Amino acid sequence: MSATLPLPEAMIPGQPWSALAPMQDVTTLPFMRLLGHYGAPDLLFTEYFRVHGHSTLESHIVDSIQRHDTGRPVFAQLIGESLPDLQRTVAAIHAAELPVAGIDLNMGCPAPKVYKKNVGGGLLRDPAVVDRILGCLRESVEGRFTVKMRIGFEDDRNFEAILKLIEKHQVDLLSLHARTVKEAYRSAVHYEYIQRAAEALPIPVLANGNVTSLKKGLWVLENTGAAGLMIGRSCIRNPWIFRQLREHFAGESVTQPTLADVREYIDRLFTATAQADRAERFHINHLKKFLNFIGLGVDPEGRFLHEARRATTKLELDAICDRHLIEAGRGKQAFADEPLEGLVARPNCETAQGCSL
Ligand SMILES: Cc1cc2nc3c(=O)[nH]c(=O)nc-3n(C[C@H](O)[C@H](O)[C@H](O)COP(=O)(O)O)c2cc1C
Repeated sequence: MSATLPLPEAMIPGQPWSALAPMQDVTTLPFMRLLGHYGAPDLLFTEYFRVHGHSTLESHIVDSIQRHDTGRPVFAQLIGESLPDLQRTVAAIHAAELPVAGIDLNMGCPAPKVYKKNVGGGLLRDPAVVDRILGCLRESVEGRFTVKMRIGFEDDRNFEAILKLIEKHQVDLLSLHARTVKEAYRSAVHYEYIQRAAEALPIPVLANGNVTSLKKGLWVLENTGAAGLMIGRSCIRNPWIFRQLREHFAGESVTQPTLADVREYIDRLFTATAQADRAERFHINHLKKFLNFIGLGVDPEGRFLHEARRATTKLELDAICDRHLIEAGRGKQAFADEPLEGLVARPNCETAQGCSL
């Protein structure tokens, strides 16, 4: 008999779950709070806590767990492979009584700096190691233990074996980013693997990878049988996406943001991410992590993206935003539902620096 724990109910009970994908330097306290403002996901996942011989619980991630104020459950993600250190980290989370809905293991990070240490996506190369880590975490985690992974390292050779281990260790939820580690972020997403996992496992599976809009999300749910959607980059571009999903499921009219709404979102992001001790240009640089994705929905020629990438002051950025999002009647235009073709966010993934373990 399965001893897995049910997930916390979605906001509309019985509807597919929506979840915020963990994203380093993005799913921070200010961003989680902003999502609370625009329409929170059913479930949130933190950036990963690095787990190694000298690791402690990073205070900014602890903060995001304690103070996100969305009213929704948050899962704390870990990345690591040393069993004693994983046990110690789980014990520290429990001892601190952090209000987490569960603890999640990262088995997908594609940064070479990470997988070369056999953590993150590197784990998918060795089912025997996965077996030991899942066993150890299942024993140490009180409450829900969840896994986020890709379909394999360079191919799918271990996919079925790892699904069996997920079942063997009574993992409570699987979030599946349906690419290999080597495919990083840009290849097609192999949704058929999500369908295979959803059919094979007795637990909920969240579909992850290029869920770019409400329409795409509905297509993914229908074609995979997944229990819900985990959304990363597209909620940076469109923070209304979780609310749009909920409105659709409730049979309500779906929010259509305008470019003026996007202008206001950028202002809110700027204010939310302000830090007293940070120089303006570093603040603007941090904001570019978000603008990079927002710009994919503004103009098909990518002029907003091009100019925003070069801004160094708030004054410059304001002028760029006004020009592209407000002036000449643009404010009333609908914000594109999908990323505009041909535009690319750079960098579009974890940075090597952020990924150092
Ligand atoms: C900037 C960035 C940081 C990320 N950091 C993490 C992370 O800390 N943990 C993790 O499991 N995945 C991380 N990911 C992967 C995402 O959670 C997600 O699996 C991936 O972006 C695919 O989903 P999407 O197409 O909806 O963005 C990151 C992705 C990006 C773009």
